[in-house]
Amino acid sequence: MSIIEYTTPLAGTAWTKDWEVATISRLAVEAGHEIPPQPLPTRPPGPGDESTEYYSCYASVAGLDKFIYESCASGMGLVEDAEFQLLLTRQIGDDGAHAQRYREVVAKGTGFDPLNSIDDEARYQRELVGDLTGRDLAGFLAFEISYELYTAPEFLILGRTARVSDADLLRSGAERFGPDEFVHRQGVANWWRSLVARLPATEAAELTAQVRSRDELLWQRRNDDITRRSSVAEDATQANYPLIRAIRSAWRDEVHQFLFGEPPQAGS
Ligand SMILES: [Fe+2]
Ligand SMILES: [Fe+2]
Repeated sequence: MSIIEYTTPLAGTAWTKDWEVATISRLAVEAGHEIPPQPLPTRPPGPGDESTEYYSCYASVAGLDKFIYESCASGMGLVEDAEFQLLLTRQIGDDGAHAQRYREVVAKGTGFDPLNSIDDEARYQRELVGDLTGRDLAGFLAFEISYELYTAPEFLILGRTARVSDADLLRSGAERFGPDEFVHRQGVANWWRSLVARLPATEAAELTAQVRSRDELLWQRRNDDITRRSSVAEDATQANYPLIRAIRSAWRDEVHQFLFGEPPQAGS
């Protein structure tokens, strides 16, 4: 049985692949861009600096996955619901496998095992976020929203517009990373809505307010780092990162609308 079948979408908009693509495509048009319907052709990273930058970018992405599976593993203790625990076991397995796959590709491309850089990046993320994600359920959910739900535009736009790509990574991205990350996003989003629907109204409102305040804190704490990472990734892949940056905040509004029922703010 797949995770999709045992999460519980509620009435109204369900978090589906079609909804993600349609929403992100609409935001792109509103920002004056178009997302190509199929991935653009890519070439492998060139020798020398280009290759070094490219693989170092992906060692750092592996570090993010390491931080994510570590956070999910410690978050397991904050979640009493069996359905969400099962989703977390899948996330831990998938994001661990992603980190390992990036590690293998970087090692093959450079001749060096990037394990220390991966570890450094995961530690850096931990320092950035502090204990915000491990204190309580609201903080943990804010972590899931930030590190999983907010990444949808980057996955889609990078996949369609990258001009430089390692062939092994391209294949793993299409076959594994992309589909897995969609399941993570859909699982968290639909579970959150089913949780809110089950809770008494005052408890739901209280938890929602806590998640929103942790989300705001995390948005501020991660802002500079995300901007920096996006410029490194733009240099490495030559993908349409200006578009990814242009719709970052508008996509967050859409996610909020899905999770909290609040309409996106015009012009934000
Ligand atoms: Fe991942
Ligand atoms: Fe993930």
